[in-house]
Amino acid sequence: MFLREMQLTLYVLLVVACIPKAIFCQEQSDTGEKSLLAHHKIRSANSAFAGRLLKLLISENPQKNVFFSPLSMATSFAMLSLGARTATLTNLLEGLGFNLTKLQEREMHEGFPALFHLLNTTQGKVQLESGNNLFIDDKIQPLQRFLDEIRNLYGAQVFAANFTDAEGAKKHINDHVDKKTHGKIPELFKDLDSDTVMVLINYIFFNGPSIGFS
Ligand SMILES: *[C@@H]1O[C@H](CO)[C@@H](O)[C@H](O)[C@H]1NC(C)=O
Ligand SMILES: *[C@@H]1O[C@H](CO)[C@@H](O)[C@H](O)[C@H]1NC(C)=O
Ligand SMILES: *[C@@H]1O[C@H](CO)[C@@H](O)[C@H](O)[C@H]1NC(C)=O
Repeated sequence: MFLREMQLTLYVLLVVACIPKAIFCQEQSDTGEKSLLAHHKIRSANSAFAGRLLKLLISENPQKNVFFSPLSMATSFAMLSLGARTATLTNLLEGLGFNLTKLQEREMHEGFPALFHLLNTTQGKVQLESGNNLFIDDKIQPLQRFLDEIRNLYGAQVFAANFTDAEGAKKHINDHVDKKTHGKIPELFKDLDSDTVMVLINYIFFNGPSIGFS
């Protein structure tokens, strides 16, 4: 697992690095086809983002194995962009490799959920579960639109947390992640920064036959 702290105290939970291609081909229903189309539109930006990120991580961790989920990173930034405007929004979209047109922004917000919909499978030997969670301090009042969109587009569960009580907030988050990852990540946070007001999590739980990493 690779864990990294970012500006705005955004935390991303990264559980799986690689997803077998076979999963993409299983669903044939109408919604499946629609999802496939939406997910195709974000494919090239996603691949390029993963490549850039890998290069960066390798340069920062020479001689080490790097294990991360570019999809979780990209999804978290895409969700975060729902609450961003002006230069921050531009930076986020550019960073993810999306064209700065309204159309691209909409396609991005359709593409990520569509991709997760396709990945959501318990078929055969493969179990793959994913989700998005937002823990936000109860003293912070985000725009209702941000909360609505993150819920409606990304199916995110939003929790109020009391970050003044850092221990309590940490336990709240760690317990939740522990449950969602079936005990695989019992303690996501050892500590929370004292200025944390928001934690955004994308988790992917994968259980299946081993897949090759190269
Ligand atoms: C962004 O998308 C628009 C509309 O599809 C296209 O005309 C333009 O060339 C694209 N810009 C870049 C930098 O890719
Ligand atoms: C994944 O599948 C489960 C069970 O069918 C469903 O409850 C859940 O809403 C799905 N999640 C997504 C993101 O499609
Ligand atoms: C949040 O935690 C602080 C520190 O423990 C406590 O004083 C405060 O009453 C809590 N706020 C709420 C709304 O529970």
